[in-house]
Amino acid sequence: MSASPSFRIVVPPGSPSAVLLVCPVVQQAPVDPIEALVPGAAAVLRQAIDRGEFQGKPCELFFSSLGPGDRRLVAVGLGPGDKLTPDRWRRAAATAALAARARRFDAIAVATPGAAPEDVAALVDGLVGASFDVGTYRTAEREAAALQNVEVLVAQASPAVGEAVTRGRVLGEAVNLARALANEPGNVLSPRVFADRATAALAGTGLAVDVLEEPALETLGMQLLLGVGRGSAEPPRLVVMRYEPEGARPGTTLALVGKGVTFDTGGISIKPSEKMELMKYDMAGGAAVVGAMAAIAALRPPVRVIGLVPAAENMPGGRAIRPGDVLRSASGKTVEVNNTDAEGRLILADALWYAREQLGATHLVDVATLTGACVIALGRVNSGLFGSDAAWNALVSDVAARAGDRVWPLPLDEEYAEQIRSDIADLLNTGGRGGGAVTAAKFLQAFTGDLPWVHLDVAGTAWLDESQPWMAKGPTGVMTRTLVGLALSHERIPARG
Ligand code: BES
Ligand code: MN
Ligand code: ZN
Repeated sequence: MSASPSFRIVVPPGSPSAVLLVCPVVQQAPVDPIEALVPGAAAVLRQAIDRGEFQGKPCELFFSSLGPGDRRLVAVGLGPGDKLTPDRWRRAAATAALAARARRFDAIAVATPGAAPEDVAALVDGLVGASFDVGTYRTAEREAAALQNVEVLVAQASPAVGEAVTRGRVLGEAVNLARALANEPGNVLSPRVFADRATAALAGTGLAVDVLEEPALETLGMQLLLGVGRGSAEPPRLVVMRYEPEGARPGTTLALVGKGVTFDTGGISIKPSEKMELMKYDMAGGAAVVGAMAAIAALRPPVRVIGLVPAAENMPGGRAIRPGDVLRSASGKTVEVNNTDAEGRLILADALWYAREQLGATHLVDVATLTGACVIALGRVNSGLFGSDAAWNALVSDVAARAGDRVWPLPLDEEYAEQIRSDIADLLNTGGRGGGAVTAAKFLQAFTGDLPWVHLDVAGTAWLDESQPWMAKGPTGVMTRTLVGLALSHERIPARG
């Protein structure tokens, strides 16, 4: 993975050592506040704005020299002040950092005029995200410089600013960890290696990590997870990560469950070859859970959180499950597999049951690249949000919005369950063409008991096909911040039982 830059807080009259000074600018607002942080910047910006060279639109960039020395300035737009959110700060900072790297700057100073601590955290988060390197396996020289040093220019030092820098870095690194995992090719990241990477990433954090292997999965009766793994030479795993802080508030155990299909060929119901290579990111939900657990361990909210990743490779092999096979889940419910490509819901079903029945979860969230139908419904802008409990849906939606992970609600009416009724077993694993994202969610719901549960379908949002000013193309780490945000919002989760 990519190393994060080191961060240093600089307070005037102290002056940064970086040559490039990043100046975030609110559209149609006075530029004067920047002057105290970056002497000489206000005049440059005012002139650029007057000439119409720069307006401060979201992620707009403007490069200029600054003063008589070799200093350079880059202005980056924050957009209009009435729409200014931490997410805008994050995107602006990432935009400037990516542009700086492309111009081979390895050090930058970033001004934070008018930024609240939340904005500073988002800005640092964005800078760490911009340090992510997708070219893990490239042996030739890099096209962009690695960002080594960042100086954060603040008007006044305070413990809140220091904490914000730490929180931003922890979040950015958690997202980068999730992105790095999702970026790994299927030949490298088998279920076993996924489990090893999760264990290594969480070593020394105080989290308990258990990796359940086949005998344990057999004992638990997890024939859905074992069934999906059976077509592959690489055995399935269940990764269990437990964060149980002393003094955790009673009555709440948040379970974060992520789909960990390390490669999805479709199995015997094999996929067309076009774009099949992208199915290496079919563990992006599981990666978000691992990243989030790392951040939660570092930020230490007083709430019990368990992370679960059922990991399997969906391959067509001599022992693979066939269409028409009936499997018995750990919950006891039986499933007729009419399509082996609907594997994600199978492995998640056993994991959701485990969270509820074996680990005492009180609140469930799952993140999964579950359906192409969700991509058809919502495109690549929003993740689909489904849930059984209005208050829990609302809380997760609100936390996601603040985290910059966009979600849109989709329905779960009882009538959809008719599409996944089997003649031979309790459930069918697919329900035909209509409402494919909903019937997938409906299948999962059958394994959640009466717990508040939210399902986030990230099939369309976990991978970016084209680079954006604020993010390189490739894995996005979507929902990592939301999952951390939920743990940090523990005070808003009502205790159960
Ligand atoms: N991993 C896929 C869903 C997916 C599609 C993720 C596109 C990312 C991008 C999932 O396992 C799958 O194959 N779903 C099937 C379900 C169908 C067989 C009912 C699908 O969406 O086609
Ligand atoms: Mn599939
Ligand atoms: Zn899949």
